[in-house]
Amino acid sequence: MIIEIKEWLKEAAGYIRVSLTNELSVSQKSGRKDLVTNIDEETQLFFIKKINERYPQDRILAEEKGFDTIDSFAGRVWIIDPIDGTMNFVMEQENFCIMIAVYEEGIGQLGFIYDVMKDELYWGGKNSGVFLNDRKLTPPKDLPLSQGLIGMNAYMYKKNIYSAGEIGNRSMGIRVSGCAGVELIAMLKGNHIGYISNLSPWDYAAGLVLLNEFGFKYSNIEGKPLAFDKREYFLAATPAAYNEIQENFIHE
Ligand code: IPD
Ligand code: CA
Ligand code: CA
Repeated sequence: MIIEIKEWLKEAAGYIRVSLTNELSVSQKSGRKDLVTNIDEETQLFFIKKINERYPQDRILAEEKGFDTIDSFAGRVWIIDPIDGTMNFVMEQENFCIMIAVYEEGIGQLGFIYDVMKDELYWGGKNSGVFLNDRKLTPPKDLPLSQGLIGMNAYMYKKNIYSAGEIGNRSMGIRVSGCAGVELIAMLKGNHIGYISNLSPWDYAAGLVLLNEFGFKYSNIEGKPLAFDKREYFLAATPAAYNEIQENFIHE
């Protein structure tokens, strides 16, 4: 399964790169800063067709076009964000990812975060570690909040939602990439000690499989398990930073 998912990702990424040489068809979803393109939809359809052909019993939760809810996580479920960071895709033509996760009975088994323009595929599976392309990565150090950069949602930082502003000020600095995949990669590389944002299940499903392998802690911002059924405030961090954030900053 891993080999074929990688092949699908490479094929989709090739198609996405070529699409950047043509004019995109861009539409608004909930507002002018919430975009979807023909490539988001076509990429999602590409994966759905592949999964349906190979694994017809499996179910799919994916961001676009009527796949964004699922009645249960029983059996095998694929969770897909065809282009994570659509605003970056449209405005920068880089810093966007494809993310795919495979869950069984609600437990993450495989996770893939593919930075398409860098051709960097971060992937891994339960109890098998985390890889960048073909190279196995070593887990980052368990640094405290005061010794690392933290990825953050700009609105949460500005409005100090769940003390995000204070948390950011305690860190070495905040970073705002506009792409959950890029933020999660930064944690896997050891560049960031954490990530605070407002995310949907397809934004974090693949990342959690990989964060788990490296011993990061994660939950909704109040410390409860992520629900996988709606957008919610999200916290992931090194154990040291996670504990410090929960104990000292989460008042709401
Ligand atoms: C978005 C990006 C962004 C995050 C948003 C997500 P999309 O994903 O990951 O960084 O702040 O919450 O919705 O819509 O571009 O797939
Ligand atoms: Ca996303
Ligand atoms: Ca998306």
